[in-house]
Amino acid sequence: MKTKKNIIILFGGRSAEHEVSINSASAVYDHLNKRKFKPICLYISKNGMWKVVDSPKCADEKEPFSSFLPWNTKNHTELPESSVYFPVLHGPYGEDGTIQGLLELADVPYVGAAVLSSAIGMDKAMAKSIFKAKGLPLARYDVFYENNWVQDRKIVIEKIKKKYSTPFFIKPSNLGSSIGITKVQSLSQLSEAIHLAFSYDNKILIEEAIEGREFECSVLGNENPVSSLPGEIIPSRTFYDYQDKYIEGKTGFGIPADIPESTAKEIQRISIAAFKSIECSGMARVDFFLQKKSQKIYLNEINTIPGFTEISMYPKLWEASGMTFTQLLEKLITLAVQKHASKKRKKEI
Ligand SMILES: Nc1ncnc2c1ncn2[C@@H]1O[C@H](COP(=O)(O)OP(=O)(O)O)[C@@H](O)[C@H]1O
Ligand SMILES: [Mg+2]
Repeated sequence: MKTKKNIIILFGGRSAEHEVSINSASAVYDHLNKRKFKPICLYISKNGMWKVVDSPKCADEKEPFSSFLPWNTKNHTELPESSVYFPVLHGPYGEDGTIQGLLELADVPYVGAAVLSSAIGMDKAMAKSIFKAKGLPLARYDVFYENNWVQDRKIVIEKIKKKYSTPFFIKPSNLGSSIGITKVQSLSQLSEAIHLAFSYDNKILIEEAIEGREFECSVLGNENPVSSLPGEIIPSRTFYDYQDKYIEGKTGFGIPADIPESTAKEIQRISIAAFKSIECSGMARVDFFLQKKSQKIYLNEINTIPGFTEISMYPKLWEASGMTFTQLLEKLITLAVQKHASKKRKKEI
């Protein structure tokens, strides 16, 4: 009998999206084809300690924890060889290239984007400068650093007032789940919105608000990525904020989105262009706005480790496009193995 491949599901993590990661990892665990794969669940606690647990639902903060970092000598846990790693970690220290760097050093195959594309995808300002260079359609935006704000708030505020009219968005560059984001409806909210964003990151963005509809599209592949049908997000609040994403559960979803074929094709084309522009691999979810007054499509962002819960758009869109959650996971694992093998064929430096 062929031996099963070990799939090490890395989940939890040090970011604010810890709980979401647990839910995503549970769905990955449940849908993994156990006849072909043996899941090993590697939980990362909120303060960055690691341990193997029976399933993502069993994750707890009880000792003993260990660390897989080489300079931590206590409680080392051996992990089986010939495993594929599956980071199901959202946000900083998971989706941003740091874990991917560790897996590169360990020379093991892993699912999803590599170091460079993970880091770019996590940093909205960096991703936008690449999208802009590739001519992809973006809302007007500017980037500010904390030292600009500390040195002269007046200059920052004047610049914003000159170029933008309300409503607009203020957001931290490196985060997700709508944390630290404000839709500024009146200039009296501006200072508070900037403060909030700087409390999460030393780089923030201001972006004109695109009033209209919101869409997401799943991308899968390495060199020749394919895109799913687009889906629609229908926020129940003024925008798709943290409350809407994870607490109230009142968001509406259109899967697939009810849009003309030409609009769907345009979203799919830009999704693949965005994926390739940051040299992404494995998977990504690409997000869009459709402006009501112009009917123009704007690219919002790329997420290199999208939500993987039972109701998440990434797997749901593939389901709507004819691929089950289980088939999707197998495809992602195959892509990880192929990518690792193709890198191994290059000369070592
Ligand atoms: N420029 C914008 N115009 C309209 N809505 C926006 C804009 N930027 C953000 N939003 C709203 O805020 C949500 C979160 O913003 P986003 O940039 O996607 O950050 P995150 O990485 O936290 O998901 C979006 O899903 C959307 O509802
Ligand atoms: Mg988003």
